Amino acid sequence: MNLHFTEEQIMMQKMVREFAKAEIEPFVEEMEKGVFPSSILQKMAGLGLMGIPIPTEYNGANMDYTSYIMAIHEIAKVSATVAVILSVHTSVATYPILMFGNEEQKNNYVKKLATGEHLGAFCLTEPSSGSDAASMKTKAMKKDDHYLLNGSKVFITNGGEADIYIVFARTSEDKGSNGISAFIIEKGTPGFLIGKDEHKMGLNGSRTTELIFENARVPLENLLGKEGEGFKIAMANLDGGRIGIAAQALGIAEAALEKATAYAQERKQFGKPIAAQQGISFKLADMATNVEAAKLLVYQAAWLKEQGLPCGKQAAMAKLFASKTAMEVTTEAIQIFGGYGYTKDYPVERYFRDAKVCEIYEGTSEIQRIVISKHLVKEK
Ligand code: CAA
Repeated sequence: MNLHFTEEQIMMQKMVREFAKAEIEPFVEEMEKGVFPSSILQKMAGLGLMGIPIPTEYNGANMDYTSYIMAIHEIAKVSATVAVILSVHTSVATYPILMFGNEEQKNNYVKKLATGEHLGAFCLTEPSSGSDAASMKTKAMKKDDHYLLNGSKVFITNGGEADIYIVFARTSEDKGSNGISAFIIEKGTPGFLIGKDEHKMGLNGSRTTELIFENARVPLENLLGKEGEGFKIAMANLDGGRIGIAAQALGIAEAALEKATAYAQERKQFGKPIAAQQGISFKLADMATNVEAAKLLVYQAAWLKEQGLPCGKQAAMAKLFASKTAMEVTTEAIQIFGGYGYTKDYPVERYFRDAKVCEIYEGTSEIQRIVISKHLVKEK
């Protein structure tokens, strides 16, 4: 792994950092009220940020995976909401079409996703199928020149706001995970409805909805990959997606560490800054060490993905560790801020609320441990 970032990567990091400070930070309060950041996404599209690792031939910025992960990391320091929108849009909505789509699908869909003209979503989870993704019930039946989809999906990030949905449904009852297929579904498809909006603990500006399929008519040519390949498409793309979520968690943790360190130097008790009291300085030391370790895991996984090497185990490790770190560091940051940390006058309570879901979506921490242990057994 080479952690000496290239000049281009450092330029990208600086550009995103400045953009996040100038454009995203002033909009955080609006997002906290539940406003979806469409205007921010438009500006990001103008800078090529909606298709960072997508090749030029499909209108992307043609940059490496590390640059993309750097962008999520930088954005998450300011807004975990914008970070998750970008991560889902790129890793698990655009990438599946880029990796498994035919030329026509890439031309029709990836080009518009990469420019940000369209926003993407990834639709796997159902009311009774979360961690056990292969037990999904949504069905797709072939009929003449289309499939008819019936069922529902829940907790869909970008639901309702997205134009393009990667939807997984069962095309065969008796083949287990090999009976699942993937579909590209456009917003506005007859029989495809947006259901209820979730009221969440954090990520207030991101949209999380239910999706309903009532005889939704999906053209045959919108099958992604082959029939029965859907589960593998989902899993393969979640490997990359998990690096994005790990980078999001890393950004949240780093922001909390920065704020807590600054506050601990300003705040005086017992005649000296609290940073000079061992109870607080040791906390800061542990927080910084864990943030650094998370950073190494995140950029190791990104580097493997960029090299085209297997990254499933390292992606799961990065997500597991970075999300745990985000929870621990944001909890300690509130503790360092004391009573002020528990108020909405300081951002640490938002970081804490935003951090929790990193241990849940794109596979819970328990699922990451399953993925890691399966790799360990396979490697034996
Ligand atoms: N890449 C390619 N193929 C893979 C794979 C991967 N990473 N992981 C598994 N597969 C293949 C296996 O090789 C196997 O293939 P064969 O049948 O040919 O042998 C097949 O898929 C089934 O694999 P498993 O037997 O391991 O499957 P399982 O049913 O035991 O499930 C699991 C494994 C890891 C627990 C999986 O169900 C899982 O990841 N669950 C969590 C689901 C999840 O992450 N959901 C997140 C929802 S998306 C989201 O949150 C997005 C958002 O909006 C923010």
